Amino acid sequence: MRTVVRLPVVDGLGQTLRRDNWWVAPLVTFLALTVFVVYAAFRALEGSAYTWGPYVSPLASPYFETKGFGVPLLTPATLVLPIPALFRLTCYAHRQAYYRAFFMSPPACSVGAAPSARYEGERKLAFLQVLHRWTLYLALVFLVMLWLDFARSLSWEDRFGAGVGSFVILVNCTLLSAFTFSCHSFRHLVGRFTGARLGFVWRGVSKLTEHHALLGWASLASVCLTDVYVRSIATGAWMDFRLF
Ligand code: FES
Repeated sequence: MRTVVRLPVVDGLGQTLRRDNWWVAPLVTFLALTVFVVYAAFRALEGSAYTWGPYVSPLASPYFETKGFGVPLLTPATLVLPIPALFRLTCYAHRQAYYRAFFMSPPACSVGAAPSARYEGERKLAFLQVLHRWTLYLALVFLVMLWLDFARSLSWEDRFGAGVGSFVILVNCTLLSAFTFSCHSFRHLVGRFTGARLGFVWRGVSKLTEHHALLGWASLASVCLTDVYVRSIATGAWMDFRLF
């Protein structure tokens, strides 16, 4: 039987009786999310190199040409990014990670928070976090679009074919699907709409949910790397290789 030891919380930011490296997780989260946000903002405002041949970057999918609208800061990426960003911002697993890394109230279990940063639950503006289920519906629509992008990546001058980029997009779609289907709100939905006869579906989703945080990080990294790949070949910094 697992023994759970509860340490008392010590007052003062970072004060604790813990002897492990508790600060590693919030620090890595802080650095990883900062890199991702800065990169996504740069790409959103760059306004170009979102497509190459049959490939579309996931940062601008579904792809809409915005040139000619004359709206400042409107790019194919700024048009669509708010939806997946809201889905991530309201995700239970990501919330825990960025609350700890950025607000440090507290930065980890049994570690003191800053005196002014007393945790009061998700009140005031944070009540918007309950909108997560609605962002899930939008994320499911986006997921269909991303799989359509993958299907398009197999069409080369109206012929069936595949390049390394198709494989990169496939991995990204798979990780994003696993992340979306491991969502706690999705599990709740499946539980509501599947009866006892389809209980195995709910149990399968529940198994996936156990890895939700890990899938969140893996899919975030794959979105970034897929965009880097598409941008690299679109700008001529790298070459795509046709597999067949
Ligand atoms: Fe993380 Fe829904 S709980 S995406």
